[in-house]
Amino acid sequence: MKNESLSARLDAVTAALDAHRQSQLLEGLDRSDDVMVEGFVSQVESIDLDEIATLIATTGPADSGDDRRIEPAHVVARDPEGEEDFRQAGEALIREGGVAAFTVAGGQGTRLGWNGPKGTYPATPITGKPLFRVFAEQLSAIDARYGTVTPWYLMTSPLNDADTRSFFLDNNWFGRDPDSILMFPQGVMPAIDDDGRMMLAAPGVLAVNPDGHGGSLRALQRSGALGHARSRGVRHLSYFQVDNPTVRTIDPVFLGLHVGHPDSSAEMSSKMVPKANAAEKVGVFCRIDGRTEVIEYSDLPADLAEATDADGRLRFNAGSIAIHVLGVDFIDRLTNGSTEAGLPFHRARKKVPYWNPATGESIAPTEPNATKFEMFVFDALHFAEAGLVQETDRVEEFAPIKNAEGTDSAVSSSGLQTERAARWLERAGVEIPRSSEGVVEGRIEIAAATALEARDLDGRSLPQMNAGEDLIL
Ligand code: UTP
Repeated sequence: MKNESLSARLDAVTAALDAHRQSQLLEGLDRSDDVMVEGFVSQVESIDLDEIATLIATTGPADSGDDRRIEPAHVVARDPEGEEDFRQAGEALIREGGVAAFTVAGGQGTRLGWNGPKGTYPATPITGKPLFRVFAEQLSAIDARYGTVTPWYLMTSPLNDADTRSFFLDNNWFGRDPDSILMFPQGVMPAIDDDGRMMLAAPGVLAVNPDGHGGSLRALQRSGALGHARSRGVRHLSYFQVDNPTVRTIDPVFLGLHVGHPDSSAEMSSKMVPKANAAEKVGVFCRIDGRTEVIEYSDLPADLAEATDADGRLRFNAGSIAIHVLGVDFIDRLTNGSTEAGLPFHRARKKVPYWNPATGESIAPTEPNATKFEMFVFDALHFAEAGLVQETDRVEEFAPIKNAEGTDSAVSSSGLQTERAARWLERAGVEIPRSSEGVVEGRIEIAAATALEARDLDGRSLPQMNAGEDLIL
């Protein structure tokens, strides 16, 4: 090795790995290859070995053995008539630049199997606009409406950061001011084999995965994005996932509830939709020891998941759709090192490809062989003084693209997008051709510049639609 400071860093990393009984990671490392050593050293330095050691030492799921008092969360019901004051409060916040959009796009999208960042996936029913464009166009429509430039924070991962940046560059930032878009990669966690050892993906390269959407909070802090937001006067972040083309990137009513409703501490607010059925695989908002929290579907005891009230409705029906508003001060409090515990890590058994130093082979396991660690953003609710939960309508705001086919696929999302557009047009008096089962006969796509919500079509002259036609507005 020619580079002395690199040599010193490698010595330090070697000592740290020895101390943590992880020196198997050094196998196969070619010390004469400075590029390989630099990559390896940087990767190990970015990992908190003490944190990993604690996680390895703690066996079993962190959230088992739950004997806390679990009740349904309080939910702010939908109330189009009563929401005007909240809308105005939210609009004032948008106008004064107090809110930024925040997209988490660091996931691996393994279920979808798309070759590239998920945000580049063609999502809209007719023109196939990629998800990133859908959000960018919404933000531009919001900016035009409120006379502002809404900052957009976008979390990538080390695995898709370069591809995401190129996509924005190739698309000329979708017409937005590049200075208003700030991308930063999230952290990663090493996968751990059944002997508590970290693994290699290749010689000198650790097998890692993004640290979950909950990693977004510390990534905002570490990357300087939180400070950037604060310096611009941004006080709240409108959080959404990259996979939902019907999300309201910036929703005045939701923001108004977050900053002005008595049930809110303006720290963290969330949207819910009533669960489709007891078995639906979504997290559920609950009230645990007086605090709003989300329980993962796999952790909600069956008797609670199936419990009904006097009207036969599910008692625990507040399904989480991963839409939140988070206060900048709240995120700062959670991530500036003064809070005694950060978000917990959840464990999942997964198939993790690895390089076997003993044989020199790369293995793609067919069965789960390792544990991955991820944080979930909804766990931040536990730390909020009061977490407001607003009910919304599934067709209006939740059409996720997660799977290659079936539920939550591009096909189901496209159907929901058309259905939502059809409802907006019907409300405005347009007759929509529907089959005897009520399914829209044709496809409809409404651009954000035309309407951000149903009421934007009020009083507009609108085209008719014939069965089997595509309608683009
Ligand atoms: P999902 O839980 O659907 O995971 O993420 P995923 O990685 O995208 O897809 P699968 O499970 O591999 O098929 C929900 C949202 O959280 C983001 C994703 O990009 C998506 O917007 N996410 C997830 C992150 O930003 N980082 C992560 O580490 C995990």
